[in-house]
Amino acid sequence: MENIRNFCIIAHIDHGKSTLADRLLEFTQTVKKRDMQAQLLDDMDLERERGITIKSHAIQMDYVYKDKKYVLNLIDTPGHVDFSYEVSRSIAACEGALLIVDAAQGIEAQTISNLYLALGQDLEIIPVLNKIDLPGAMIEEVSDQIVDLIGCKREEIIHASGKEGIGIGDILAAIVERIPAPEGDPKGELQALIFDSVFNSFRGIEVIFRVYNGQINKGDKIKFMNTGKQYEADEVGVLRLDKEPRPYISAGDVGYIISGIKEAREVKVGDTLTHVDRPAKEAIRGFEDVKPMVFAGIYPVETSEFEELRASMEKLQLNDASLVWEPETSAALGFGFRCGFLGMLHMEIVQERLEREFDMTVITTVPSVQFHCYTTRGEMVKISAPSEMPDPSLIDYIEEPYIKAQIISKSEYVGSIIALCMDKRGIIKNQIYLTSDRVELSFDLPLSEIVFDFFDRLKTISRGYASLDYELIGFRESTMVKLDIMLNGEKVDALSAIVHRDKAYDWGKRLCEKLRELLPRQMFEIAIQAAIGQKIIARETVKAMRKNVLAKCYGGDISRKRKLLEKQKKGKKRMRQVGNVEIPQEAFMAVLKLE
Ligand code: GTP
Repeated sequence: MENIRNFCIIAHIDHGKSTLADRLLEFTQTVKKRDMQAQLLDDMDLERERGITIKSHAIQMDYVYKDKKYVLNLIDTPGHVDFSYEVSRSIAACEGALLIVDAAQGIEAQTISNLYLALGQDLEIIPVLNKIDLPGAMIEEVSDQIVDLIGCKREEIIHASGKEGIGIGDILAAIVERIPAPEGDPKGELQALIFDSVFNSFRGIEVIFRVYNGQINKGDKIKFMNTGKQYEADEVGVLRLDKEPRPYISAGDVGYIISGIKEAREVKVGDTLTHVDRPAKEAIRGFEDVKPMVFAGIYPVETSEFEELRASMEKLQLNDASLVWEPETSAALGFGFRCGFLGMLHMEIVQERLEREFDMTVITTVPSVQFHCYTTRGEMVKISAPSEMPDPSLIDYIEEPYIKAQIISKSEYVGSIIALCMDKRGIIKNQIYLTSDRVELSFDLPLSEIVFDFFDRLKTISRGYASLDYELIGFRESTMVKLDIMLNGEKVDALSAIVHRDKAYDWGKRLCEKLRELLPRQMFEIAIQAAIGQKIIARETVKAMRKNVLAKCYGGDISRKRKLLEKQKKGKKRMRQVGNVEIPQEAFMAVLKLE
C-alpha cells in the first residue's frame, strides 16, 4: 500500500484539468504520445465537443520516482456546478488533490467550493498554477491569492502549463512526496466506496470504486450496502487505458467490477460495496441520493413517436442515473414525460443525447423547480409542473426551494451583482474581501430565480469575471401563482409557468411580447393572452400573414432559421402543432429570456 497514491484534480471549469490529466498520462507513458487524442479522459463525443467533463473517470498510472515504483490513481472530476455531487464522491476516494488555478483567471467560485470539499475530507492539497504560458498570466497576483486561500508557502505552488507540458515532472514528484499513502486493513471486512459507474451495452454496468478495507476477488459474492442488492463479481480489474482484469483489488487501491448489472439505477455513486458472507459493519460515510433541481416535460414532436421516445428514455437512463422521469400528459402536447435534471446544463445534454444517439426530435417544455404546496386539508403536494398546481381555493400556502449562493468577483462589480441578486429576490448574507480587489458574496436566493438564466446574466454584468457556486438550503414560504398562456382563447398548459406574485404582471406582459416575436405567422391572426386564474393580464397579437410570404418561411430571420434547420436531423422541425397554432421550441424557453 505504501507505493499507492490516490489523487484527484479539482479546479474551476475550464482551468485546464483535462488537458493537465492528458499530460500526466503522457509523461508516465500510460499512453504513447502518438495515441494521444486531446482530452483522452473525456471519451463521450458530447464531452469532447463541448469541451467539458460530464462524468468523472479514473485511470491508473505507473511512475518510477527515485528508483521506486509507484501506482498513481488519478480520478478526474467534472467542474460544472450541476455535477458537484460527483466531485464530492471522487474527492472522498482520494488522499490528495491537485488544485489547479488558471494563472490568467485566478481563483473562482468552484476553486473555493471544491477546495472546501477536499479540505473537508482532509486531503493533502497540491496547488498548481496552470496556463503560465498565457501572455495574460498573472503569476504573482494569482500566487498571492492561492497563498491567502490555502495558507500554503509560495514555494509549494507548482508552476505549470498543461498545454506546453511545463511542470509535469514537478507535479508527479509532489504527488509521490506530499500525498500520503492510503491506510486501511487489507485483511478486514470489505468496504469499497463507489464513486462512478460506466455503462457498457455488452457487459452491463462497470462499477468503479476505491477499496478502504479488505479485498475484493474475482468471483466474490458482493452486496451494495445502501440498496441491499447482491451480485457476483464476474470480473475485477484496474482501469488503465483499457480495463485490465486482475485476480483481486486490495485495500488502498482503485478498481472496477463487472457483475451483470443492467441498470445504472441499481448502482448509486456514494454507496459502499461489501461481501455477502462477511459484511462490513457500516457503510462509508456520506451517501446521498442525488436530487434533481430542474423539471421539464419532454415530448415527441410527432405524437406517434411516444413509444419510441419511451424506449430511448429508458436506454438513456441506463447510463445516466441522475436522470429521473415519469409519464405525463399535457392537454396541448399529448403524451410525454416529466423529467428531473440536475440543472439546465444537464437538461440540454439530455435533449441533445436523445437527438443524437436515439434520433428523436423532441420538445422540452418550460422548466420549473419543485415547490411544496400545502393544501387547506393539511396535505403537502410536491409540484414540479404548473399543471400539478391545485386550484387556488385549495392552497393554504406554497414553499419554494432556496439556495445559498457564493459569488466571487472583482470588487468593481459588487454593486451590479448585489442589484442583480436583489432583483432575483435575494438576501445578502455576507461579503468578504479575499484580496484587495476580489470579493466573495453570499446570498440566500430562491432556486427558481437562479437555475435558469442567472449565470449568464452574472457573467454579463461582471464581464465574465464573476463565478458562482450554490447549494440547496431548504424551503421557504413564498406567494407563487400560476401564470397561464392562452392562444386564440385556448389555454396551452405546456406554456404555463409558476412565478412569484410580485413579478407575475410584468412577466405576463413580457412573455406575451416575447411569444409574439417567436410564434410564426399564420394565415390567421393569433391572440396571445396571459392570465392568472380568470384574470387576463396581458395580450398581444400575431398578425396574419399575406399569402405569398407563406411559401418562403415561417418567421424570424432567414439565417436564424437556417441555423435551426442545420441542427435538426431528418429535416424535422422542433415545432408542435397545438390546435391550429404551430409552437416552436424556443417559445417554451421564452420565459427564461425575459430580461
Ligand atoms: P472541464 O473539464 O470542462 O471542467 O474543463 P477543464 O478544467 O478540464 O479544462 P480543459 O482541460 O478542457 O481546458 C480548458 C481550455 O483551456 C481548453 O481550451 C484548453 O486548450 C485550454 N488550456 C488548458 N491548459 C492550458 C494551458 O496550460 N495553457 C493554455 N494557454 N491553455 C490551456
